[in-house]
Amino acid sequence: MNYGYFDDRHREYVITNPRTPVKWINYIGNLGFGGFVDHTGGALICKGDPTFNRITKYLQQAPASEFKGESLYLRIHGRDGYRVFSPFFVPTLDPYDLYECHVGLGYTRIVSESYGLRTEVTIFVPSGEAVEIRDIRVSNLTGEAVEVDVVPVVEYTHPNALMQFTNADWVPQTMVSKAEPDGEYTVMVQYPFMNRDSRVNYFTSNLPASSYETDRRRFLGANEYGTWAKPLGLFAERLSGADSLRGDVLSVLLHPLGKLEPGATRRLVTQLGQEASLEAARPGIRKYRDPVAVDSALDELKAYWERYLSILQVQTPDPAMNSILNIHNPHQCYITKNWSRYLSYYQLGMGSRGIGMRDGNQDVLAVLPAIPQEGREFIRRLLSFQKANGSAMHSYNPLSLEGSLGDSTEMEDRPHYYSDDHLWLVLSVCAYIKETGETAFLDEKVPFYDRDKQGQPLEEGTVREHLARALAFTRKDIGRHGLPLLGFADWNDTVNLPSGAESLFSAHLYGRALKEIIGLAEFLGDAAAASEYRAAYVEMQARVEDAAWDGEWYVMYFDQDGNPVGSSKNEKGKLHLNGQSWAVLSGFASPERATRAMDSVEMHLNTRYGIKVSTPGFNGYDRTYGGITTYPPGAKENGGIFLHPNPWAVIAETLLGNGDRAYQYYAQINPAGKNDLIDIYECEPYVYAQNILGDEHPNFGLARNSWLSGTSSWCYQAGTQWILGVRPDYGGLRIDPCIPSGWDGFTVTRRFRGQVYNIVVHNPERVSKGVIRMVVDGKEVSGNLIAPGGVANEHRVEIWLGK
Ligand code: NOJ
Repeated sequence: MNYGYFDDRHREYVITNPRTPVKWINYIGNLGFGGFVDHTGGALICKGDPTFNRITKYLQQAPASEFKGESLYLRIHGRDGYRVFSPFFVPTLDPYDLYECHVGLGYTRIVSESYGLRTEVTIFVPSGEAVEIRDIRVSNLTGEAVEVDVVPVVEYTHPNALMQFTNADWVPQTMVSKAEPDGEYTVMVQYPFMNRDSRVNYFTSNLPASSYETDRRRFLGANEYGTWAKPLGLFAERLSGADSLRGDVLSVLLHPLGKLEPGATRRLVTQLGQEASLEAARPGIRKYRDPVAVDSALDELKAYWERYLSILQVQTPDPAMNSILNIHNPHQCYITKNWSRYLSYYQLGMGSRGIGMRDGNQDVLAVLPAIPQEGREFIRRLLSFQKANGSAMHSYNPLSLEGSLGDSTEMEDRPHYYSDDHLWLVLSVCAYIKETGETAFLDEKVPFYDRDKQGQPLEEGTVREHLARALAFTRKDIGRHGLPLLGFADWNDTVNLPSGAESLFSAHLYGRALKEIIGLAEFLGDAAAASEYRAAYVEMQARVEDAAWDGEWYVMYFDQDGNPVGSSKNEKGKLHLNGQSWAVLSGFASPERATRAMDSVEMHLNTRYGIKVSTPGFNGYDRTYGGITTYPPGAKENGGIFLHPNPWAVIAETLLGNGDRAYQYYAQINPAGKNDLIDIYECEPYVYAQNILGDEHPNFGLARNSWLSGTSSWCYQAGTQWILGVRPDYGGLRIDPCIPSGWDGFTVTRRFRGQVYNIVVHNPERVSKGVIRMVVDGKEVSGNLIAPGGVANEHRVEIWLGK
């Protein structure tokens, strides 16, 4: 069964049934101001940070039918009284003749028809502004005039999101909500008392309101035994018009539209924003009262996405691949880079999670083609959370810029660092240079995180020095096999073995990082650095090859006593995906072992819904292993189809030249391909989820934690750079496809270092890999690297694959 369809022409997914198995969301604005809107119009909005500056009260865990953060009511004046309903379906759950939620790039539009009224509401944040716009149009579809009122509602939270849910005394006694007249309009103003002189939320519209409400008890009525489905406040002619100096506070504006003639449409624009004061908000308020300004802000947003997506467009024989690579996957990558793992329907945006070091460095890899300068600033920020000893903080808060050691502090007897965090910096810096060619970035200075008592950085170093220290940290931080110590965890947050355990993941990530930096040193002609890094690479490769081969695959860890974990000798967690794919990505595995290891993946880990991260699952809590054993078998990291490592397997297969298998792995997790399986899959088909339950679990195939996952960045890279093979390199753009042998070719348009390349790949011999001929602007070019530059700035590239 499906709940909607892809409309690629308008770059939207259209939900046609509001009763989705879980809420499906979209993002508006960004971390500077914005949040997410669910498909029934609820919204979680914050400014700068969802933990310390949250605006709307949105409870992810509350039932889907309930009001969350914001909504809209319509009130029809009938002969027998009022008919009150929401055109968003939630929270009144009225029947509808039409319901559509258009999930667009940076906006959501909900269109519905009920009781003879058609309502269209476009919800977005204008680029760079701190205001959520709801552009509401109500049309009369009947043959008679209808008297109708439009009533938008916002419920506020205390800005300290955690405090809202942990304190029911101080919080309600501080919350203020009131109305300020503004000529013929009303501006609602809200703040906790202590923020009165520094930070106010406002809510207003561009039509006069007859009355307003600020208090939830009064709005719902009957001491709150009224409900959001039938707010008694809306059954009186006017709302109370009273301000609130305490309580659960709202902004509700009642707009009588008067009589709407048959076929007539009225438009109302609401604004929810935050500024330092109401005075500071007034110019913006005036601006967006004008519908022309609203239209042009939406046009500007669409133009932004047009430019963004034009950086890379593909045409392959697979429509689901085209849809995801051309529209939804780059959009999701932009969102993950923005929000890290901080705020979604599953990530509650409270506490210290903030922006992740490991996550951020991986997310940025996929946005570099479109927004390289933003990517560079982000990488600089991440570098500033690296410690002088080369290791790194696990995350930071975007508002306070305080670093955090993540969950590693939760188990007293475990090390308080992650063995992989700092190494990802090498990958992101090298990718930035490959994309832009700006090697000068390496000489820029960035402080290390260590600070003196006044909070000032103790030391700074060039970007090159930061990377050198990251690699040096891992080179020294080794255990009894000479492999990197695990620390609290590696990429897999949930394997938390006691101190002294070693991680093959971190060994391979170190190997991959060394490969990147060796390539960079060679490109820069720095023979000394290249040879030193080569020595480090060979040293680690030898240790991995000596210690980690288990016979049919590589082990994943050695525990504190030197015993293998992820071995045929273990009873549970015998085989781990990352131990195999990363042995290929690092280049440490010999060709025979690489093939054997990836065959073991296919044989023991692959399922029709994706590749499991490990097998078999642990069955019972075991503190020695830690987090992984908190899940039942088949869930999340414990034998689930954790999606983030799937594209690593895709990339590994392309490195081995197995285009058919690479594509099979890619296609089987493409969410666009799940559109007709939603009763099993449940999450949005337009974005990747983080996990799908594995075949040991009774709910095999069920997805959760959509949107904020490294799956997005790596699937984009796997699809564009490794299957289609259009890959930035230090010396130019490399074209090295590894495709299904059945394809006769494909095309890619890629903007790269100021040039546009229209690439046509022919596959007359139906092979998977091997460029045998390349013609650029009519001239034969040997190899598969297009050097940057040229006279024209648009180029035609033709490639032939063959044996
Ligand atoms: C989710 C985290 O955000 C990510 O950093 C981690 O690698 C995965 N969980 C796997 O544990």
